[in-house]
Amino acid sequence: MIHLFEPAKRPGAPIFLLLHGTGGTEQDLVGLVRLLDPEAGYLSVRGEVTENGMPRFFKRLAEGVFDEEDLALRTARLIDFVKETSRTSGFSLQDVIPVGYSNGANIAANMMFEERLFEQAILLHPMVPRRGVTLPDSSQVRVFIGAGTNDPICPASETEDLKVIFEQAGATVDVTWSNHGHQLIMPTIEAAASWLAQK
Ligand code: MLT
Repeated sequence: MIHLFEPAKRPGAPIFLLLHGTGGTEQDLVGLVRLLDPEAGYLSVRGEVTENGMPRFFKRLAEGVFDEEDLALRTARLIDFVKETSRTSGFSLQDVIPVGYSNGANIAANMMFEERLFEQAILLHPMVPRRGVTLPDSSQVRVFIGAGTNDPICPASETEDLKVIFEQAGATVDVTWSNHGHQLIMPTIEAAASWLAQK
């Protein structure tokens, strides 16, 4: 997979798994790393699917309607890639914290629906990737969700449902709302950084 990797500056510091939004690349979220934790490293991946030339992490049938077969396949591939890279690049899976935006947040959430891989996750403007599924036991998992009350792509109900789904599996979920739309804004990143520092 096309990716960038930068080791952490101190043992035990996070390795952020950066997952961009539709039409993005592995470069997009790198600037967030120093804002979230200046000592963190990162593994930033480019989505393998393209939609009219725009990279994504999985196919969709329409806006907000996901191709669940492709989602399952791509999620499994990404999980394998992260595990394999942790072995070859010498970081612990325990240090990995996904930071996903939009389509990237959706695949990050789906990775967590599939496997209890991460203890913490930062999901920026996510949706519910799949419904009617049983999650792995997610007690001790902390999830930060950044959402916009006027987000036309991720309606507020998606955020609320995703929170409940994670909580029912035992996770602790903190939602930070802005009254903006789908765009990433600095106050949300700052809220994510203080949430991370609280652990
Ligand atoms: C998706 O397709 O994952 C969501 O609609 C968000 C996006 O536009 O990327």
